[in-house]
Amino acid sequence: MKTDAAAFRLEDYRAPAFTIDTVDLNFVLAPKATRVTAKLAIRPNTDEAAEGKLELIGDETVLKGLKLDGASVPADQYSATPDLLTLHRVPNAPFTLEIETEVDADANTKLMGLYRSNGTYCTQCEAEGFRRITYFLDRPDVLAVYTTRIEAAKLDAPILLANGNPVESGDIPGTGRHFAVWHDPFPKPSYLFAMVAGDLGVITASFRTMSGRDVELRIYCEHGKEARCAYAMDALKRSMKWDEDVFGLEYDLDIFVIVAVSDFNMGAMENKGLNIFNDKYVLADPDTATDADYANVEGVIAHEYFHNWTGNRITCRDWFQLCLKEGLTVFRDQEFSSDMRSRAVKRIADVRTLQARQFPEDGGPLAHPVRPEIYHEISNFYTPTVYEKGAEVVRMLKTILGPDDFRKGMDLYFERHDGEAATVEDFLASFADAAGVDLAQFHLWYSQAGTPQIVAKGEYDADARTYRLSLTQSVPPTPGQTLKRPMHTPIRFGLMGPNGEDLGYETVSGGRVENDVIHLTEASQTLTFEGVGARPVPSLLRGFSAPVRLAIDISTADLLFQVRADNDAFNRWQAAQTLAMRNLIAGTAAQAKGSAPSVEPALIEALGDVLDNDLLEPAFRAQVLQLPSEADIARELRHDVDPDAIAAARRALRLAIATGLQDRLQPRYAALSEDVGTYSPDAGSAGRRALRNTVLDLMVATRSQDAVAQALRHFETANNMTDRLAAVGILSQAALPERRAVLKAFHDRYADDALVLDKWLMLEATVPSSETLERVQSLLRHPSYSANNPNRIRALVGSFAGANQTQFNRVDGAGYEFLADFALDLDKRNPQTTSRLLVSFRSWRALEPIRRGHAEAALRRIARADNLSPDTRDIVTRTLA
Ligand code: BES
Ligand code: ZN
Repeated sequence: MKTDAAAFRLEDYRAPAFTIDTVDLNFVLAPKATRVTAKLAIRPNTDEAAEGKLELIGDETVLKGLKLDGASVPADQYSATPDLLTLHRVPNAPFTLEIETEVDADANTKLMGLYRSNGTYCTQCEAEGFRRITYFLDRPDVLAVYTTRIEAAKLDAPILLANGNPVESGDIPGTGRHFAVWHDPFPKPSYLFAMVAGDLGVITASFRTMSGRDVELRIYCEHGKEARCAYAMDALKRSMKWDEDVFGLEYDLDIFVIVAVSDFNMGAMENKGLNIFNDKYVLADPDTATDADYANVEGVIAHEYFHNWTGNRITCRDWFQLCLKEGLTVFRDQEFSSDMRSRAVKRIADVRTLQARQFPEDGGPLAHPVRPEIYHEISNFYTPTVYEKGAEVVRMLKTILGPDDFRKGMDLYFERHDGEAATVEDFLASFADAAGVDLAQFHLWYSQAGTPQIVAKGEYDADARTYRLSLTQSVPPTPGQTLKRPMHTPIRFGLMGPNGEDLGYETVSGGRVENDVIHLTEASQTLTFEGVGARPVPSLLRGFSAPVRLAIDISTADLLFQVRADNDAFNRWQAAQTLAMRNLIAGTAAQAKGSAPSVEPALIEALGDVLDNDLLEPAFRAQVLQLPSEADIARELRHDVDPDAIAAARRALRLAIATGLQDRLQPRYAALSEDVGTYSPDAGSAGRRALRNTVLDLMVATRSQDAVAQALRHFETANNMTDRLAAVGILSQAALPERRAVLKAFHDRYADDALVLDKWLMLEATVPSSETLERVQSLLRHPSYSANNPNRIRALVGSFAGANQTQFNRVDGAGYEFLADFALDLDKRNPQTTSRLLVSFRSWRALEPIRRGHAEAALRRIARADNLSPDTRDIVTRTLA
């Protein structure tokens, strides 16, 4: 086990002394003692190799045999610990090393390296799991061609899979065993290696690529769940087609395989030609999956498929460059989903995720640049900043360059770096060269942490017909970075005229403004628009064109006008959110004094008009009607956060809206109920369900008997999981007594379905009631729970700590103590899942003093424990720093 807390620094990068050209693996599978033979063709790569010392990394790795160029290595010529295999004297010329190791897959609860999920052998190697299979140069800049032979008992594992194309298979006569050989011709880093062996069901299909090759597609799952893979297969074909159409990228092997497993630390993994998925991102049918689940399956299938080019064909030089594959691939999957569904609604959803996950990270102790410069434990850097902000940076690049130059830059990137391990600098240079622009200032988006704050102020001079817009930007200090420089920030905008159309102007001075985009590059800039015919309402940051906080002195009347008339859907939604947020902030402060602010009747009126505006997509209307979450409000407050006051303020505003719209909700619900029909997961139908469920939620906010009865009927008559779950969620979130019977009915109906039981666990864990903590503790002993399965853990404990603001943040500190106890226990078995749960503490300093004290005590108690995993140690240390 790794115990040292060595820091890795970007500036220390050195090319590997040796490299590996080919890897021949042989797996002889057995539950407690799998034998792995790795034959490595190694050669010197830098002058350093002349020193003759070769170090291969391990992690709990058990050496059973070692040969160099066919001869056993004498004991005095090497040393082997679980972490490191050192050969003291190797040739300064190409040689072959044959390493034999033994792996206990059954005992592997970390789910890194080779492990078993419900009996199926599978692997997870990113970022540093391959070293748990064999000693290796386990770093992403060592690219090798892999051939994998797998041998297993035929009854246990009729299916044998590895990366690449199948080359050979057969029985081993008289043994009941068989084997298969796979060859992957594309050089790849070890983190992309995968192997699966087990007894699985399958669905198959085929895809003809743009150059006319037929690719065989297979999705494996547990027997009996094949029908639930159909939507994933459809999403895969659409992803393959989209990448050809939009990026000109074609799949490169003869076969593409996805395997769904039920024990998986992450969402899914892009291993070359053999993606391994958490089954929750593969399986979907109307009775068990919600519309959101369908959208997630589509998005994750696309994401992992898109990695074939952005991640696999071009990989990362080192783990500091993680955003090079993850941020870019998130951008690509977001674009895919936008093209498959509603672009505006997808953008709102993505920005909500960014603001809910990345903004708090960027504003707290775990803040780091999109490309970090130091890490202790890389698995803690698969963060919202690397992923979501990383995607925003690519999106800004496209906004700044325009679609044509953006595509040229992508083409050049593939042309230059295919088959290589690249850096952020390589990526940016492709765009700079393709478009003939200087991206030096833009590079700061990769190196400066913190969410920039932009302050805007507008002034109209009617006589002179000029509009002056002054903009300032500042980036707050973050851990390890105090001084920041202004960044190149694209601000998409419009000057809304009295009839809602954008006003034209004759000239603009004070900065570069092109194609409705202001290029903010200085700390402070004033733009003067000449020839503006009327006082404009500034609509700034349309489509959320940069990941910043925008403060603008704008009146309630102007915001209401934006809600009604902005021709940018995102900003219509944003204006409604801003209005609601203003009320919620005032309301939270008022709670302390036992009062509540009045609600602007015009706000309720505007929301009602959105509700009934059939020209707008139902999914969009649903988004506008949903208030900022409790966590959103806490983030906006930043100091002395009292989650109980926030929850009370939010309840009060919901009630005011529900009461104000009383006459319009029931008829709207009835109208939307007319076309329910049979279930289809398409975006249009999903949008109508979303609006109907949002309306129901508002109806129940009044807690009237009629509304509660309506919600119960909604549950009983639902013909799909979206509606059923919405009804239980609404009754549970309102902490209504009716919830108990409905939760039980929901549980009993799906007692054998682990993925649906996760929804039930999540519902139980998020009830805003003082009984919930005890309920969560007792559910840890429920037969439907499983102490080692990451999905169960996240559904119960993750939802409690991450999505139940009032109960996790109980004023007596019991929520924090519970999470600390739970984490200390889980850390012994699954460090990655543990450290991810602890991220729920990331905003502890923003709490009011009593809760802050309790949270700090719980964190310090974890920090004092002996034998913490490096993952948990790293998160806790940085959270407390
Ligand atoms: N490469 C990652 C999987 C991964 C994450 C491996 C962390 C090791 C550590 C994969 O491509 C990924 O990003 N998966 C996401 C889902 C995706 C849709 C953003 C995940 O697993 O959460
Ligand atoms: Zn990814």
